[in-house]
Amino acid sequence: MYRRIFLSLSLAATALCQLDLTSCSSTDLHCIENRISASHILTELPNFVTYPIQDDPFYATPANISQAKPGQILKVEHHTNVSLYDIPPGQSLSRIMYTSVDNSGQVVPATAAILWPFTPKPFRNSDKFPLVAWAHGTSGIVRQCAVSIQRNLQYDFRAVFTLASMGYAVVLADYVGLGSDQAFNYLAFKLHANDVVYSVMAAQSAFPQLSKDWVSFGHSEGGGVAWAIGERQAIRPIPGFLGTIAAAPPPFPIANTAPVGSSVFTAFLAFTISRLNGLNLTAIFNPVPLQVLQYVQSIGGCNDAGFAAFGTFTAEDIYSNTSWPLSQEAVDFARDYSVGSRPLGGPMLIIQGSADTVVIPEGSALGFKNTCASQKNNVSIEYVSVAGQDHNPSLYASQRIWLQWIEDRFNGVKIKPGCQHNNLSSPIGNVQLAERFLVEYEKPWITIYSSTFLPESLQAGHLGFVEPNTSAPTTSRSN
Ligand SMILES: *[C@@H]1O[C@H](CO)[C@@H](O)[C@H](O)[C@H]1NC(C)=O
Ligand SMILES: *[C@@H]1O[C@H](CO)[C@@H](O)[C@H](O)[C@H]1NC(C)=O
Ligand SMILES: *[C@@H]1O[C@H](CO)[C@@H](O)[C@H](O)[C@H]1NC(C)=O
Ligand SMILES: *[C@@H]1O[C@H](CO)[C@@H](O)[C@H](O)[C@H]1NC(C)=O
Ligand SMILES: *[C@@H]1O[C@H](CO)[C@@H](O)[C@H](O)[C@H]1NC(C)=O
Ligand SMILES: *[C@@H]1O[C@H](CO)[C@@H](O)[C@H](O)[C@H]1NC(C)=O
Ligand SMILES: *[C@@H]1O[C@H](CO)[C@@H](O)[C@H](O)[C@H]1NC(C)=O
Repeated sequence: MYRRIFLSLSLAATALCQLDLTSCSSTDLHCIENRISASHILTELPNFVTYPIQDDPFYATPANISQAKPGQILKVEHHTNVSLYDIPPGQSLSRIMYTSVDNSGQVVPATAAILWPFTPKPFRNSDKFPLVAWAHGTSGIVRQCAVSIQRNLQYDFRAVFTLASMGYAVVLADYVGLGSDQAFNYLAFKLHANDVVYSVMAAQSAFPQLSKDWVSFGHSEGGGVAWAIGERQAIRPIPGFLGTIAAAPPPFPIANTAPVGSSVFTAFLAFTISRLNGLNLTAIFNPVPLQVLQYVQSIGGCNDAGFAAFGTFTAEDIYSNTSWPLSQEAVDFARDYSVGSRPLGGPMLIIQGSADTVVIPEGSALGFKNTCASQKNNVSIEYVSVAGQDHNPSLYASQRIWLQWIEDRFNGVKIKPGCQHNNLSSPIGNVQLAERFLVEYEKPWITIYSSTFLPESLQAGHLGFVEPNTSAPTTSRSN
């Protein structure tokens, strides 16, 4: 159970004063914890439908998981109370708990939301709801960061509300460990790909009105997941797959280079590498930065609390060993969990803002190039570079392209063979760059990744983007 944070107006007012990201020294535990709770209260709590998540019995694992195989339904909430969510008028929501598998092949509980359009977009005389499986970006690393418990479902009109407005039913997997009572393995793309694929099977079994055909679509962390789904479909396909869209994907979740950066996302990833590959956290972190990340997790803090944990700290402030990405554990993780250079079970559209400061374009460009080269162009990949747009803004600027691509797949439009690189740019110019509106009404001045939040010097290259270091000692590459 998380330590509860109580919200009061006076506390919120005090909190606002404490959000100066330069205010604490990296050894002042008390100061940093105050800054974290201030950020959590102001920017995260208002967007949660239930806090703490344990108060919603939907997220409790039922006893009948013991007999379940992957992709089976454990619970169905047909009509979620939409007055608790900020979804658009006319749309409705369901939630399911189902089973997926973890890194050791164990059956584990997972949760997902299904966002329903007012009416389904008709395709080829079908009255089914065309299914898009959404793979979300980084939301945090504990249960509370499930997107199904966020009033705006995290991506609002950037993607999921727009898809439902067009008549698609959107299945939003939370990924095991976000929502369900499990450890979360941040950036382990192929594990999240299991969670998404099984969410499709489970949703289809619970709701026969969903189409058998489906497209996957993800952004940021979810872009890597969408890519991993394409790779999974080449070796362990489930029926109905029409293709995948990887927006702002980091094919290489960590660069095996030194020194490490100061991004809290990389620090979040260290927890996964500790769990999956045995990285010793006390040997790489300075004591207070490790304690404050543990504090973030103990209060059910997500991305914004994580940003407040590090503020403007340098890598030297955070780590006692800034070379830890060269460690055998990090090299093994990069080898086992990067995507690219493998066959794909369907066509892929890559969307990448050319000015993305969170997942920089070099990573997806390299993953694209490596995959086309290693597969001798025996794939169908279209890489669309969105000129001048940043991480989230690129989703808006390319909306017409991805909506058309999804529609073409459901219409059975012939797939273009081979690899194409296209540039999308405005013939008018002077375009808007910032994302200036929010669905999180009570979150007045910040959205995650917005260019207004982090100082510019901290924005570059938050996630690894170069290839795993092949000169570092490795064992054989596994799937
Ligand atoms: C678990 O129980 C729910 C109903 O409570 C049912 O819908 C589901 O099929 C069951 N799953 C398994 C694997 O037995
Ligand atoms: C839905 O949630 C609202 C707001 O909390 C509450 O007033 C209402 O009673 C709930 N409706 C149902 C059917 O539970
Ligand atoms: C790659 O790994 C080797 C061996 O661990 C190391 O010496 C080298 O510095 C690494 N390369 C980069 C670019 O960090
Ligand atoms: C982890 O590192 C710390 C600090 O270097 C050390 O004291 C501890 O023994 C290590 N733990 C393991 C399990 O190796
Ligand atoms: C830092 O980590 C690297 C990679 O594991 C290791 O080779 C190096 O010895 C460590 N440095 C110190 C001072 O422990
Ligand atoms: C091309 O890829 C498909 C799908 O992975 C595979 O079935 C086929 O054998 C490949 N063709 C060649 C010439 O490699
Ligand atoms: C797209 O833009 C990049 C970078 O400006 C350029 O290198 C590339 O040639 C362009 N590609 C096409 C197809 O126009």
